[in-house]
Amino acid sequence: IFLQTSDRKEASLVCRSWYIASQDLCFQKNVIFCFPASASSLELVRSLGRRSRCSLIIRQLDGFSLSRSLLLEVRRVGLDSLALPGSSVTEASLLALLPRLTSLRRLDLRGLDSLFMSGAFLSRKEHRQQVKSAISGLEELDLSDLRYLSDLTFNRLTGCTPRLRRLALAGCHIAFEFDPYSGCPVGTVKVSSALLSLRNLRKLLTEQSATLVALDLSRTSITPESLRTIAQVQGLALEDLFLQSCKELTDYSVEVLVKHQPGLQKLDISGCTELTSRAVVAVARGLSSLTDLSLSRDWKITETGLADLVSVPSLRSLDLSECLHVGGAEMVKGLSRCLAERAQLEKLNLRSCTYMRAVFSLTQVLGGSLRELDLTSCVNVTDLSVRAIATYLQGLVVLRLGWCKEVTDWGLLGMVETSTFICPHSPRQEDRGPRFTRTFGNMGFFKPPRLPFEERPKLVTPDDLKQFKLQAGASLLALRRLRELNLSACCKLTDSSITQVVRFADLQCLFLSSLPDITDASLLAVARHCRALTSLELSRCAHISDRGVAQAAPFLHRLQHLSLSACNHITDQSLLLLAQHCQRLKTLDVSKCNKISGTTVDHLQSQLPFLENLHCKISGGTDFSL
Ligand SMILES: *[C@@H]1O[C@H](CO)[C@@H](O)[C@H](O)[C@H]1NC(C)=O
Ligand SMILES: *[C@@H]1O[C@H](CO)[C@@H](O)[C@H](O)[C@H]1NC(C)=O
Repeated sequence: IFLQTSDRKEASLVCRSWYIASQDLCFQKNVIFCFPASASSLELVRSLGRRSRCSLIIRQLDGFSLSRSLLLEVRRVGLDSLALPGSSVTEASLLALLPRLTSLRRLDLRGLDSLFMSGAFLSRKEHRQQVKSAISGLEELDLSDLRYLSDLTFNRLTGCTPRLRRLALAGCHIAFEFDPYSGCPVGTVKVSSALLSLRNLRKLLTEQSATLVALDLSRTSITPESLRTIAQVQGLALEDLFLQSCKELTDYSVEVLVKHQPGLQKLDISGCTELTSRAVVAVARGLSSLTDLSLSRDWKITETGLADLVSVPSLRSLDLSECLHVGGAEMVKGLSRCLAERAQLEKLNLRSCTYMRAVFSLTQVLGGSLRELDLTSCVNVTDLSVRAIATYLQGLVVLRLGWCKEVTDWGLLGMVETSTFICPHSPRQEDRGPRFTRTFGNMGFFKPPRLPFEERPKLVTPDDLKQFKLQAGASLLALRRLRELNLSACCKLTDSSITQVVRFADLQCLFLSSLPDITDASLLAVARHCRALTSLELSRCAHISDRGVAQAAPFLHRLQHLSLSACNHITDQSLLLLAQHCQRLKTLDVSKCNKISGTTVDHLQSQLPFLENLHCKISGGTDFSL
């Protein structure tokens, strides 16, 4: 068992031999270096020269000499993958580079309009030959968000990459039916120099059908007829297809897709607002290898078909966020089947499913495989649901409960509210430990008299109860593997629960914004018990003050992102402490903190070497970001 990445990074700073140990080759798989074009990155790239097979993401390259020298250095690195987001490189500098990248597997030219605007990229045959002989092994090409991609430039580039496995054209202007330039239906003009046509895309898919398994056409205006054309390409057997926000797609087009591409494993049809449950039924019946499905924002979807969908045994990840008509009962039905006949979900997103009612039953049937659960804005999540999560979903790594406004301290503590137990607000209870958990099994949690939202109370059997009593307890503490927890805007929470149960050794991201009742006691407890924190949000927690920051900062030296926005008791004093103790801060949000002065902000910037984003408000001025 190895330390997690962030712990390993920390350990590597202890001494030279630990540093060398942390550089062991077994940790060096899929290493990605991500940096902006700058003088210091030149040094970095030089030092990479000896390393083989790494990936680079270089931001903000331009046509000036620094960028050019950087690209010259990149030529010497044994690159696996290259991405140049937010850059404006010239054709010449890329042409100087590409013929050297013989081991390249992945090339990301997303949004690089500067390269395609003139239409002359790769127009010379000898350039094409050079590039092709270098990158003919390229497997992944991302050409998303290119405004000026045309049949001509597309063909020149893909002509150099004859064995693509993955192609992304998200957000490109593809002419699916009608060519506005020639004024006739697509297909009449052979190869367009003005736009990318369906006909041309189809030609590529046909040529490379033997290798191509993933296609991203999100945010295009693809029509049902065009999707049919693509799905029917001879020999094409897609595994991953992304059609996010393709608003013209209909249920019928999903039915046709599923019929012709039955091997699909990942399908993203989120934001396809015309789709209804008919599409869900088609997917459930037709895609027996499905692992990941996103139906987010397909708000016409109802319960129908969801039982069959979660009965697809290969399904691992399901996104139903903002599907307002989903109540959960059908999912419970599907997941109640025996293990071999149902999904072992690892990720479930139910954000903003406001009518989600079966949370309790769902948690019971989801099982120990679940790693990520998002119940943000599910207003019917109650204390009982939280106790069920802590009891049945102990494998959770990510839990999001933002805006679950009914949740109270009782739920987090794993206790039933009784008149004899007064939820304590006393500040000195912090170290007494979780004594409540041991007795919880006897406190009648499974015999609440009426559960209006609980449709299948019969699911709780005496066996459940027996098993439950064996467990350590049902407070949030049971979720020992948590790395991300979001309790923002669960406005009934107070120090009583936060100081007791937010104690997770591996927790990296904690969001506690808009909790009006929590005080410095919560901040201190969190800092002491969650030493691995890298992100902490406490915005709009009005009681957090300099005193809390003073006590907590010494424990938070790994912090990289901190938000104290609209915490009005925060003053310059906190900033000085942060500068002293939290040297790794990259983003700091102290906007709407009225008591912070300009000179301290200047000081902070000079003291924090990694600071990239600072949101603040200088007294009397307006909010701004640096
Ligand atoms: C945490 O939850 C709040 C409230 O739902 C939300 O606004 C915020 O974006 C969430 N934070 C993250 C990082 O998910
Ligand atoms: C869900 O919550 C809403 C708002 O809090 C409430 O009006 C409704 O009765 C609840 N539904 C169930 C089934 O509990």
